[in-house]
This record gives sequence, C-alpha cells and structure tokens, in this order.
Amino acid sequence: MSALAASTGAINLGQGFPDTDGPREVAEAAAAAVLNGPNQYPPGPGLLDLRTAIAEHQARFWGITVDPETEVLVTAGATEAITAALLALCEPGDEVVALEPTYDAYRAAAAMAHARLVPVRLVPPSYALDIDALGAAITSRTRVLLLNSPHNPTGTVLSRAELDAIAALCIERDVLVVTDEVYEHMVYEREHIPISTLPGMAERTITISSAGKTLSFTGWKIGWATGPAELVEAVRTTKQFLTYVSGAPFQPAVAVGLRLPDAYFEELRADLEHKRDLLCAGLDAAGFAVYRPKGTYFITAGIRGVTDLNGDDLCRELPARCGVVAVPTSVFHENPADGADVIRLAFCKRTEVLDEAVARLKALA
Ligand SMILES: Cc1ncc(COP(=O)(O)O)c(C=O)c1O
Repeated sequence: MSALAASTGAINLGQGFPDTDGPREVAEAAAAAVLNGPNQYPPGPGLLDLRTAIAEHQARFWGITVDPETEVLVTAGATEAITAALLALCEPGDEVVALEPTYDAYRAAAAMAHARLVPVRLVPPSYALDIDALGAAITSRTRVLLLNSPHNPTGTVLSRAELDAIAALCIERDVLVVTDEVYEHMVYEREHIPISTLPGMAERTITISSAGKTLSFTGWKIGWATGPAELVEAVRTTKQFLTYVSGAPFQPAVAVGLRLPDAYFEELRADLEHKRDLLCAGLDAAGFAVYRPKGTYFITAGIRGVTDLNGDDLCRELPARCGVVAVPTSVFHENPADGADVIRLAFCKRTEVLDEAVARLKALA
C-alpha cells in the first residue's frame, strides 16, 4: 500500500508510520554514535546502557522491576522479538491463541514456528473481548497467548477486568503470554495495564515493545523483550540465529529517548489524541461508520455508508478516486470475508495532511 501511495502521489494513511521523525536529541545521539561509535557488534542481549534504560522505563511507567543483566533483551524491532519468542516457546503442532483482527506478523511468526494460530475475534462496533470465546480457544495444545493491547488495528485497550479474566485463564490452563505492547504510550481512553503486572503473571509473561512507535523512529527497528530470565534467555537463543544483533549506533540513542522526561510521552499521547479526534470526525462526516479507537494510531471504519464495494476493492480504488491510501482489514483475518466491509486508516500524520485526507474522503460520497 505504501508503494501504491508513492506511485500515485496519494496521501498514505495505510502503513503505520509517522510522517515526522522523533525527537531531535535522540536523532543527534544516533548521529554522534555513527561518527564516534559504537558501530561494531554490540553484546548479544544489547548494549547494557540501553537495557538499563529499558528497565528504568518499565519501572517509571508501569512499576515493573526487571534486571537489565538477565531480564531484558534488545531485538531488531518488536517483530523480531515476537518471532523469536514464538520460535523459542513453541513446538511444531502447538497452538498460539491471538486476538483477531490479527497483526499480520503474528500468523507468519506462528507459521515459522510450525505452530497454528487460533484466532479469537473482536467484533465491531465494540471490538470487546468475548472471554468465553477466549476460554474455548485455549486447549491442551495451546502454548502461548499472543496478546496485543492497545490493539492494532481495532484500537481496543483491554480493561483491568478483561485482563484479570485473561490472567485467570492463563494461570488455570498453564499458558505462557507473549504481550505486544508497542502502543503502550498511545492510550486515549482507559489506561494501559501491562498484563505482567497482574498477580501470578510476571513469571509467565514476555513483554515486548519498540522504539519505532514510542520514539517515532520506525526505520531504526530497535525493540525489546522483558520478562523472567529463563524466558528471556530462550528468546535470546533463537534471536542469536535470526539477527544476532542489530542497530549498534541506534541503541544508545534509544536509551536517550527512553530517558526523556514524562512531558515527552504525554505530548506524544495528547497530539495523537487530537489527531484521532480529527480523523474520526472527518470519516464520520464522509459517511463512514467510525469505530473510535481507545488506543494506537489507527482507526477502523465501516464502509457500507460510502460504497457497495468490499474493502479490498475500495482500497485498490481509493488512490485513483480520491488520492488516499488505506488498508482493508480483511488482511488481518483468517477468513478475509470477516473483515470485508471495514478499512483501517493511520492518523500518525501531520494535521494538515489529515485535513487534506478528510477533504478528499468527503468527495467520495
Ligand atoms: C501490533 C504491532 N506490533 C509490532 C509492530 C512492529 O514493530 P517493529 O517495527 O518495532 O518491529 C507493529 C507495527 O506496525 C504493530 O502494529
């Protein structure tokens, strides 16, 4: 979809990346590191200073205590952490339960581990979790619950009650949790609660996040996994043969970013909340059914009010018809028909770009 945006000159609300880079001081720290080092292989688990900054971040925002020496691993983005975790934890034939719509890397990662991804559907308009459906999806073959809150693409933020119920199921059925929390700082309603903070969960949870989202440097691909030493060690063992290490000069820069004052994180959140409201209002005025996200930087929107086409065809036609690129949510479903009349749009763009996109989308009606 990004290639389509580039070739047609359309506004790209498809792929989830900001159109402005992250903080200047973080970029300067990376530039200084390119000039002065480190530029050679960092240690396998990542530079200790970055691991320390990640541990400080987990303590500052979520009250999580992890030992930078043994309980933190730096990865090539959250994607590698997820893939390495599933490769480390799953045997062929195991099942990985995940919320659907499902971020596309999850199915691929499960397939690489010869595991089967079992979806539990979140259904619009509420996209609320059906805890009974989750209970039914967990079987004796389930090895991992791959959780994602705030959730891409629906913007669902799991509540404490939902997380309590999930935790109770995982403890009762002895399931490990891999939780993808890359949108941890982009929450507009409810609060972000890392599932590892619930009683009995720290010992069975690998928590994953990424500088790409929090610091707006998606191209640097610096992510991390935190959790109990034996699980982190297992992830590191598979990571060793995926990339071994990556992004040496970006690692000290990400440490600078994670140590920015609270104001940085609050401004990021408040700015995106404003942009969410802007795009929600614009989509609503253009005739879409807006499923207002509680978190992330994505909005899903029902298209029945604007077209008889399905989401795939509409997204294929959108660049030519009105100069906007969006993603059909069918791509996040095992059965594409389940997401056929919904599309996803990213709002991590400059305000004037969102204003122009809204004006163009109104012309659709
Ligand atoms: C839910 C989710 N997890 C992981 C990623 C990828 O993170 P990274 O670029 O750090 O690999 C994304 C990116 O869009 C995402 O939406």
